[in-house]
Amino acid sequence: MSNLFKNKTVLITGHTGFKGSWLSMMLKNLGAEIVGLSNNTITTPSHYEHIKHIFSHDLRANIEEKHIFTKAIEKYNPKFIFHLAAQAIVSASYKDPFQTFSSNTIGTLNLLEALRLSLSKCTAVLITSDKSYKNLEINRGYHEEDVIGGIDPYSGSKGAAELIISSYAQSFFPSTARIRLGVARAGNVVGGGDWSDNRLIPDAIRAWKNNEILSIRNPKSTRPWQHVLDPLYGYIKLAENLHEKLIPNNSVFNFGPPISESAKVEDIADHLMDYLESFSWRRETEKEFFESKLLALDSTKANKMLNWKTLLDLDEVIEWTTAWYKNFYSQSGMKTSDFSHLQISQYFEKAQK
Ligand SMILES: NC(=O)c1ccc[n+]([C@@H]2O[C@H](COP(=O)([O-])OP(=O)(O)OC[C@H]3O[C@@H](n4cnc5c(N)ncnc54)[C@H](O)[C@@H]3O)[C@@H](O)[C@H]2O)c1
Repeated sequence: MSNLFKNKTVLITGHTGFKGSWLSMMLKNLGAEIVGLSNNTITTPSHYEHIKHIFSHDLRANIEEKHIFTKAIEKYNPKFIFHLAAQAIVSASYKDPFQTFSSNTIGTLNLLEALRLSLSKCTAVLITSDKSYKNLEINRGYHEEDVIGGIDPYSGSKGAAELIISSYAQSFFPSTARIRLGVARAGNVVGGGDWSDNRLIPDAIRAWKNNEILSIRNPKSTRPWQHVLDPLYGYIKLAENLHEKLIPNNSVFNFGPPISESAKVEDIADHLMDYLESFSWRRETEKEFFESKLLALDSTKANKMLNWKTLLDLDEVIEWTTAWYKNFYSQSGMKTSDFSHLQISQYFEKAQK
């Protein structure tokens, strides 16, 4: 694997969350010194709680506060920044749209402004979403030039963050800038260690654990399911390629599975029954809130320019995910951090083949 991150300081926002905790572990495995910045530990249980020993600095701060990033960049001088901190749940965005817009747009703006004013050299990867795209309910995967939009507040906030990033990128970070910037859009990500509300896998795990039947809203919705390690590996490759100037500054990339791997929510729920004994589900009868029915990403650009593709097929996605939770809840299982470490090692082995 790449030596680029060895002994380099990497700032990861959202490190207490699902994806941030896994990304922190992957980069730690590559030798980086990780500075984590988040406001809270957001779920109980929490993957982060089991891996928090890996952080060189573990900061609690609200990214909506203007000078947070200026101070962190001045103090730790990170060579790489991965910005994942966000209010990331669609249902929560209906309950508190203001907070969702505030963290997802002002938080991003604060980071960009701090980068604009800083004197350091840094490569930053900003994580938005497949939901940034204006939803056209089309039968092809979205590609990077498609129009940005977003109906629900979460999607709107991610679309708005994209406009802010694009404006800063074009106005302040030309190809010669000391700041190298990339945007990563990924879709529905699953894996061990997620206990968020209103996401299929955590909801299924809770139902399975409590011997309950899972109610699913929108079982016919199609999503580009992928294991969490796949897009995170893409983010790492994006950072490497930006840093090495192998791709243009301010590049935007989709990270999704092949369209053939897209599956309906109900297919995933059925598939879970192969691996989780006694798991069952039924269709939610309550009124559904708006969520796009069909979302798929065209990741040809990442395939070609970053030599990236998903390494786990749909069956492996379900197998690796359920194996993680089974180990977590088993009396005789491995230590959680060791099990996560094992999956990362297995993933890196696949990546080297
Ligand atoms: N999980 C997915 O399927 C998915 C899909 C597409 C995009 N994303 C994006 O990836 C990123 C990470 O998603 P996740 O699933 O790990 O989310 P998560 O909800 O598990 O974690 C969110 C993290 O952001 C932090 N955070 C939230 N608001 C903050 C604030 N105001 N100040 C400081 N920290 C704050 C939380 O403390 C937490 O560490 C998000 O930007 C999300 O929008 C996730």
